[in-house]
Amino acid sequence: MRTVLVTGGTGTTGRRVAAFLRARGVAVRTASRHPAAGDDRHVIFDWADPGTFAAAVDGVDRVFLVAPLSDSDPASAVGGFLDAAVAAGARRVVLLSASAVTDAPSGLGALPPLVRARIPEAAVLRPSWFMQNFVGSHPVAIGIREHGRITTATGRGRVAFIDPDDIAAVAGRLLLGEPIPDGELVLTGPQALSYDEAAAVVSEVTGTAVHHTSITVEELTAAIEASGVPHAYARVLAEMDEEIAGGSEERTTTTVQDVTGRAPRSFRDFLIDAHRTRSAHSAPAVA
Ligand SMILES: NC(=O)c1ccc[n+]([C@@H]2O[C@H](COP(=O)([O-])OP(=O)(O)OC[C@H]3O[C@@H](n4cnc5c(N)ncnc54)[C@H](OP(=O)(O)O)[C@@H]3O)[C@@H](O)[C@H]2O)c1
Repeated sequence: MRTVLVTGGTGTTGRRVAAFLRARGVAVRTASRHPAAGDDRHVIFDWADPGTFAAAVDGVDRVFLVAPLSDSDPASAVGGFLDAAVAAGARRVVLLSASAVTDAPSGLGALPPLVRARIPEAAVLRPSWFMQNFVGSHPVAIGIREHGRITTATGRGRVAFIDPDDIAAVAGRLLLGEPIPDGELVLTGPQALSYDEAAAVVSEVTGTAVHHTSITVEELTAAIEASGVPHAYARVLAEMDEEIAGGSEERTTTTVQDVTGRAPRSFRDFLIDAHRTRSAHSAPAVA
């Protein structure tokens, strides 16, 4: 095996994919715009600068692909990148998409058909919402930490939140060369929870009361916009909550079990670990 390129290599999923593969002796090059602390096999790579593609794909036969989120037409940059990767010898690409993203002529939905068309061995991962959103710097985590409140437009809709370690384990196995399963690779945790139920688990694990408030899509759009996000994108994000309210994420799948041979981690176990890690570093609360 030659080198595996992990784009988004400093992000939530990419750095876990890189760690998974390196722990198994695979040569991994991580890529993103900023240097990765302590990672001397990182290359500076910018989706907005095609001049950075050649060095990233040199000697690469497999790619973990995290697309440019802020780009309204990501297929343009990703198409050029895939051409460079194929010319360099890449045969397999594992694309990180999302359960909320379906195939479409433009936007993020254009990427799965593009990757399938250009790459001999293409896998499209469609994870549900990340458990990681409840810790760290995500707006949900900030709401918990600063206000003891989660604000969404999801109503009573449920989401089968997934641990990013489980996504990385699936991606890692496929990048090791395991057969790509047929059909949609929708990745979920073991249980679908409403945000009310998730808030109750956070309260129980941290010992600090956390509440969920569901507001309208219009109110959420305005709130996201007030945090500096352009109106159109704020609306897109708020409408994703509306989909959840309608039941779009209320499902669990066996994909993590099927590919990795073990069950996905529960939300409670994820939070307990996150809380323990934070406590060990003397940080306040889980989020
Ligand atoms: N959060 C969720 O609940 C959820 C659920 C399902 C699917 N997803 C999908 O997950 C993906 C995000 O993955 P993630 O959460 O692992 O990433 P993340 O933590 O948001 O990090 C983004 C990564 O992309 C890199 N990056 C950003 N802009 C870049 C650019 N212009 N050129 C090159 N690299 C760039 C960043 O590194 P630098 O800053 O160093 O460039 C970083 O490594 C999205 O496609 C999203 O749709 C998320």
